[in-house]
Amino acid sequence: MKWNIVHFDTLESTNKTALTLPPDTVVIASCQTGGRGRYGRVWESPRGNLYLSAVVRDFHERTPLLAFVAGVAAAAALEEFSVALKWPNDILLDGKKLAGILLERGEGKIIIGIGINAACAPTQRVLYPTASLAGKCSLPELTARVLEQLEKQLDLFQTKGFEPIRKQWVRFAAGIGQPLSVKLPDKQLTGIFRALGQTGALLLELPDGSVQEIAAGDVFLL
Ligand code: BTN
Repeated sequence: MKWNIVHFDTLESTNKTALTLPPDTVVIASCQTGGRGRYGRVWESPRGNLYLSAVVRDFHERTPLLAFVAGVAAAAALEEFSVALKWPNDILLDGKKLAGILLERGEGKIIIGIGINAACAPTQRVLYPTASLAGKCSLPELTARVLEQLEKQLDLFQTKGFEPIRKQWVRFAAGIGQPLSVKLPDKQLTGIFRALGQTGALLLELPDGSVQEIAAGDVFLL
């Protein structure tokens, strides 16, 4: 097994601690006092859920694609629950957010932070409906599965490139061919989600028939 795993009871954020550690380390905490979400949001982190950060080497210009590598790994680890992926890497259970992934860049390394609502779903300060596995999976088993998949998908990405990751992502994807809206910093776009591009962009067909490549934004399935 590739990972050097360090366990903590309480941390401010596993991502924050992981930023101080070398590649191939995994930081796990039972709870977090300052869990970080995307766009500077708070990730509620009560005891019982999974909080894990893996330190991987910098993939330079291919680093943004790690969002999809991590999304596929988490979705594959949760496959028995019939989860789906919402672009770029939210994990949905029955259309509600079950897990989130936050990538952060350190010096010569990337942190892949994964939070899974194994026991309970946060209810406060959330922009979207949330779900949990309600304890239907043991935390150590789930952790082992996530780490096994993360190692497998990272190896695949390293040896075969993005295409096999893209194919798996599409298999798990929610909303392809369906209407969705994307909230960008300055505007909101609504269209049909046509495909995942070769660079990980969401290809959105607008009402005038043109296709816009979205590189970042909050997606809402309609
Ligand atoms: C999101 O907003 O969807 C991303 C949430 C990522 C949360 C995880 S929990 C483990 C790791 N440590 C953090 O502080 N955040 C990530």
